[in-house]
Amino acid sequence: MLNFDFCSPTYFAFGKDTEERTGELVKRFGGSKVLIHYGEGSVERSGLLNRVKKSLQESEIEFVELGGVQPNPRASLVYEGIELCREEQVDFILGVGGGSAVDSAKAIAVGVPYDGDFWDLYEQRPEIEEVIPVGTIITLAATGSEGSNSSVITQEKGWKKYGFRSELIRPVFSIMNPELTYTLPPYQTACGIVDMLSHILERYFSNTKEVDLTDRMSEAVMKSIIDNAFIVMNDPENYGARANLMWAGNIAHNDTLGVGREQDWSSHQIEHELSALYDVAHGAGLAVVLPAFMKFTMPKHVMRYAQLANRVWNMDINFEDPKQTASKGIAAFEMFFKMIGMPTTFEELGAKEEDIPQLTSKVRIKGDGEILGFFEPLTRDDIRSIYQLCVG
Ligand code: NZQ
Ligand code: ZN
Repeated sequence: MLNFDFCSPTYFAFGKDTEERTGELVKRFGGSKVLIHYGEGSVERSGLLNRVKKSLQESEIEFVELGGVQPNPRASLVYEGIELCREEQVDFILGVGGGSAVDSAKAIAVGVPYDGDFWDLYEQRPEIEEVIPVGTIITLAATGSEGSNSSVITQEKGWKKYGFRSELIRPVFSIMNPELTYTLPPYQTACGIVDMLSHILERYFSNTKEVDLTDRMSEAVMKSIIDNAFIVMNDPENYGARANLMWAGNIAHNDTLGVGREQDWSSHQIEHELSALYDVAHGAGLAVVLPAFMKFTMPKHVMRYAQLANRVWNMDINFEDPKQTASKGIAAFEMFFKMIGMPTTFEELGAKEEDIPQLTSKVRIKGDGEILGFFEPLTRDDIRSIYQLCVG
């Protein structure tokens, strides 16, 4: 196990009616004038927005609002939010909705005190020193943005989808009421399920030795996600299953499961180009990329994949031919994605084979720009092969 620092300071209020505590929590974390930032209408239709405003009014907290965050949140609305916060002297940002609303809220929070174009931060990823505090009310169990140190924004100029990370953008509080996820369309529920599984797998794709504790925790969380996924796909208002999935989404990405190990994240980088080019849902893109990434990397990591198949899918390891077990485990993930209604090929996603050269050249690789990831260091040629495997 590697050395690590771990500090996940977000205060979580979890359970039924917790959104009624919005005012109390904003006050506790020092907010006096709030920007309520949300998406394209689900929080209005569900009545959540009115309940949030009522709670703020009862705590005598002023607020302004900015809706309209699109899935794959755009830089243009972030600029608008920054302007609004400066004009209105906002001192607290409340992201209400899915990961996109929360990520856009985080971008505004770093952009307001930054003396320059906020996009520089996403492009260059410098250390930042100042941020407006962010709280969240999450309505989609998926990204874990309610507890994570990251925000992902799409810049329309050039259609770049880049992430920014800083410990300062972990939300100070997050309200998590599983009932708020009842209204999700099945497709979005499934996208969220794939995303949270992928956040665990990106950490599981590691060559670090002696991480048995976090391996076993990861396997347990994956099993629970899969079990509860089948329940909610059949019974969307099952509180227990929604609650387990909601907390799993947070655990999957607040790094509880990733400490002390080298993590991979290649599948995310490869997927981000699909979301950027075709504006597809992140989870749907991952359902296509993950099986392809697994198939490509499996031959060099047979026992790791055989362990995954054994512990998550209860498959006996064939010690004569562990590759067979490893392949069956990967096929089980692919089949699971299909069963919950996710695409698993380029065609089903709406991506085009002829775009593979463009996608490959756009994938963002930090450092020397040549090698992506750690589990299996990928060259651009390897990335092209993974996209090719996505074609099906
Ligand atoms: O815009 P509204 O009307 O709110 O509708 C949304 C949107 O259309 C809808 N929705 C959300 N909650 C709902 C609901 N509809 C009915 N009932 C509800 N309770 O769902 C649609 C998708 O919402 P979105 O926020 O885009 O989804 P998600 O939470 O999956 O977020 C995806 C974004 O997060 C990024 C992704 O790349 C993508 O841009 N990620 C952020 C991460 C982070 N900050 O840590 C990590 C992830 O890996 C990911 O990259
Ligand atoms: Zn993700």
